[in-house]
Amino acid sequence: MGKMTAAPILVKCLKRMEYRGYDSVGLATISKKRILIKKGVGKVDDVNKLLHLEKLNGSVGIGHTRWATHGGVTYKNAHPHQDCKNEIAIVHNGIIENYNELKKSLITKGHKFKSETDSEVIAHMIGEFLNKNNNIKKAVINVANKLKGTYAFVAILNDGTLVGARYDEPLIVGVAKDGYYISSDVLGFIEYTDQAIFLDNNEFVIIDSESLTIYDANGSKVKKRITRIAWELADVDKGKFAHHTLKEINEQKHMISKAFSIRQSDFQEFVNVLASSKKILITGSGSSYHAALIAKQLLSKFCKLQCETILSSEFQYSSNVLTKDSVLLAISQSGETADLLQIVKTVKESKAKILSLVNVTTSSLARASNLFLGINCGPEIGVAATKSFTAQLSLIYRITNELSIPTMRININEIGKFVNNILNSSKNIVKIAEQIKHIGNIYVLGRGLHFPIALEAALKLKELVYVHAEGIPAGELKHGPLALMDENTIVIMLNPQDETYEDTLSNVYEIKARNAIIVGVSNVNNNKYDEWIKIPKAKDLVYPLLEVIPLQLLAYYTAVKRESNPDYPRNLAKSVTVK
Ligand code: F6R
Repeated sequence: MGKMTAAPILVKCLKRMEYRGYDSVGLATISKKRILIKKGVGKVDDVNKLLHLEKLNGSVGIGHTRWATHGGVTYKNAHPHQDCKNEIAIVHNGIIENYNELKKSLITKGHKFKSETDSEVIAHMIGEFLNKNNNIKKAVINVANKLKGTYAFVAILNDGTLVGARYDEPLIVGVAKDGYYISSDVLGFIEYTDQAIFLDNNEFVIIDSESLTIYDANGSKVKKRITRIAWELADVDKGKFAHHTLKEINEQKHMISKAFSIRQSDFQEFVNVLASSKKILITGSGSSYHAALIAKQLLSKFCKLQCETILSSEFQYSSNVLTKDSVLLAISQSGETADLLQIVKTVKESKAKILSLVNVTTSSLARASNLFLGINCGPEIGVAATKSFTAQLSLIYRITNELSIPTMRININEIGKFVNNILNSSKNIVKIAEQIKHIGNIYVLGRGLHFPIALEAALKLKELVYVHAEGIPAGELKHGPLALMDENTIVIMLNPQDETYEDTLSNVYEIKARNAIIVGVSNVNNNKYDEWIKIPKAKDLVYPLLEVIPLQLLAYYTAVKRESNPDYPRNLAKSVTVK
């Protein structure tokens, strides 16, 4: 909301936010006290080309890109949604768990619903309340009290008022000279202002032509601090690369040294808390969980710390008890993953310390942590984690360096050079991508520190290539997976010359005897490999970092060859802020 026409700005902002969801897109603006809406199925550019979203009039507006949870990917389910009288339009992130019950009650009062979404109830509820009592502040409090689940919603009223409210979903206000912005990520408005106000849970904001006011759940005014956001805009463009994913894979040559350039004073307290804790429970989801698995191996083996890992989504069913002398080490790129924030909430009550490694240092996770270290890899736009994963690993290496004996320490400058060499030899990977692009089953095998990378490589192949890919601990081969091996399977063996080398080589022979096609990832070649992805000879504990990069490239190039867009894999969203 501001002095400028809202629609072209909203279209630009939505393009930056597209990584959050890209099933459909929609805009609502206010012109001459009327709400104008345009929306459609597809990505921002495509829908805009077709419907000219940016041509909507008005200086107040809202926009949304959707990642479908309730209701299919259809025009009707695209946001914004309206009340019956078209006096209110809303966009919503999250899940309203009791929407069925609310919807039924609204229908008995005469409301007519147009979509299958849970979100639409919010527009009708605000409408219902405003009908009886024309007070938007009271309406928001009333609606918030009735909603169960998670939400960040923004509503516009046809009188030009803009309202935003949140519970367990992020919502941030951008304060610029010529207007205000409300977004679920600072990337939504970073082109226009670097001044942000982070709303806390249960807070809401009302912006009209005269003022911006933030309230708590009871409606009392809250004074909030303006935070200056440090990220550079240049980082969110693709530059010379065909895709964000490729750009981000290439940026990894700088990631490692960044982790090592964090000031020692910022780092020391974090490391001290880890070193003095009785037990460390390391958690994350997806790729961040794979980083957690590596952290566990390094911290327990080389630093003699008591560590366990748990998938964030499994914590609630586990019997994990953390006492006040334990630490939860939470790993996340976004810092907004719902499963992870759920653990943080539970652990906070136990008084255990919460330490996090997080990329978005203004995120809910960073703000809920006792201490955090920024993984500092800049915005990651490609939906699949690439540079954030290696940046997490780099920070884990730095922690390991600090807490282990000197002979285990790694040389950071050397690793930077290795990564550069790997990135410069992608020709071979492109060739392998051509070979595997029609294969339906890919297995990635590794032992010890390589097993989490097997999981990570398989995840990249699933996400980008839409192929069945499985990470398997190589030692388990004979206990079942060997039955799957035949001439139609590709098996990627993670096998550099370290303590796992000989045993994994035995698996190579067993698999070759069943005629599977083997891609060896190693510093040395072997005549049983049909293809060899060469990585440099390095210190044993560094191999995970070196072997994951060519496999990210393999997933990327195979996706491109199959003509899918690696930046926006189907059905996925970057920040999984719903459970
Ligand atoms: C995989 C991927 C996801 C995320 C997971 C956790 O490529 O991107 O598996 O790693 O959703 O997200 P963060 O790290 O933001 O908590």
